[in-house]
Amino acid sequence: MTAQIIPVQTFDLVVFGGTGDLALRKLLPGLYQRFRDRQMPADARILGLSRRELSDEDFRSQVRGALHEHVRADDLVPDEVEQFLGRLSFLSLDATGSKGWPELGRWLADSAERVRVFYLATAPELFGPVCAKIGSEGLVTPETRVVIEKPIGKDLASARAVNEAVGAVFEERQIFRIDHYLGKETVQNLMALRFANALFEPIWNRAAIDHVQITVAETVGVGNRADYYDHSGALRDMVQNHMLQLLCLIAMEPPNAMDADSVRDEKLKVLHALKPIRPGRVDQVTVRGQYSAGAIEGKAVPGYLDELGRHSDTETFLAIKAEVETWRWSGVPFYLRTGKRLAQRASEIVVQMRPIPHSIFPRDAGEVRPNRLVIRLQPDEGVRLYLMNKDPGPGGIRLKNTPLNLSFSETFKVRYPDAYERLLMDVVRGNQTLFMRKDEVEAAWTWCEPILEGWRQSDEGPEQYGAGSWGPSSAVALMVHDGRRWVEPGT
Ligand code: BG6
Repeated sequence: MTAQIIPVQTFDLVVFGGTGDLALRKLLPGLYQRFRDRQMPADARILGLSRRELSDEDFRSQVRGALHEHVRADDLVPDEVEQFLGRLSFLSLDATGSKGWPELGRWLADSAERVRVFYLATAPELFGPVCAKIGSEGLVTPETRVVIEKPIGKDLASARAVNEAVGAVFEERQIFRIDHYLGKETVQNLMALRFANALFEPIWNRAAIDHVQITVAETVGVGNRADYYDHSGALRDMVQNHMLQLLCLIAMEPPNAMDADSVRDEKLKVLHALKPIRPGRVDQVTVRGQYSAGAIEGKAVPGYLDELGRHSDTETFLAIKAEVETWRWSGVPFYLRTGKRLAQRASEIVVQMRPIPHSIFPRDAGEVRPNRLVIRLQPDEGVRLYLMNKDPGPGGIRLKNTPLNLSFSETFKVRYPDAYERLLMDVVRGNQTLFMRKDEVEAAWTWCEPILEGWRQSDEGPEQYGAGSWGPSSAVALMVHDGRRWVEPGT
């Protein structure tokens, strides 16, 4: 079946931080793709805002450059690029002052009936103040939506403060909190895999599953994001949001329907069922690491502290043993692992089944390995189900562990849209299924906070690991202690 493109209603999109990294690298290239596919209506308008003094033409030429940098050459059709750029305008505006707001009001004045989206691609400190200003300037219509990006807070109290400030101006149905992992095709496919196949549900529980591993490994370091990252670290940057969302999709009960609240209600139950990691237990079930100098793909790279230029205890790697206290998952650990400057860029979810109860095969037939389902999120997206097979040929039974391999690139010959393409169109459609609800964000912080507190109380800082490795040796020990081992992505 070819992709079905259903155009969205026409809209006005106002991007605060319109010349920033997120807008130029993700939002505008994503919108261009949707425009090219005729999903973004030809009369939709996009307004970039920033403090800088730029003409419409300056802004368009900046976006043209960004498209050339971030869109595949094959997808850059000059006429279409120019038509898309024709939908763009720019306004110089002081987000917290008065400059530019009357002009913004005039730009929006004649289109009150359209879907109106305010995308806050700004520093999180501005979420509250900008929303307040949007409200006091009278720019909120019933069809208005606001989009905010993580980080939403740095702990529970600050997340609540952001939610309250945004909620003072917008109703929850108008607030779209982006976790871009939920926009990834393979992450959405977790729902299809679990709930469109009858095969898995009967075994998706403690009776058949030994444990689950979720790895999100990156080869990049923090580079020029060191200032942001040093106040964040892997727990806030990756676990509180992306990794917990993945855990929820694996662990949740089947929702009644694919609508926003049914799905989010089930995810919320998982977050509430996570066993709290009290500060005193943190050293037993978490491992923090920080990369030192090493080599990535044969190229020497500096350590985190060299990049930062000062001492820091911020973790660039984190492994956690999490537990979901429900009938389905009792006794089935979820091991989470994420880090910068690791050996490969690879995100995988491993669902490790229990061993067979009794082997009928002679010893020399080889080891009977427990089945394993591996969901490869990126890159080389796919699903592998490891099964024991008879190695063909004479000589009696020899058993071999062989994957049933579904490679998405070989099976589905389509371009994988970037997560933001899907998410932006969902914002316009008003579909919140792939966005985090207020209570989800707060529940995720509630679980993360005692971990942060435990680290503050601990005498130990993060353990060093060489760039290009799989993280500190204690992460391996975390598994070995339980008689298990990490599965290296791709194996
Ligand atoms: C972001 C984090 O949310 O996700 C980054 O802030 C991280 O630190 C990025 O690199 C990873 O996203 P992706 O889509 O490249 O896996």
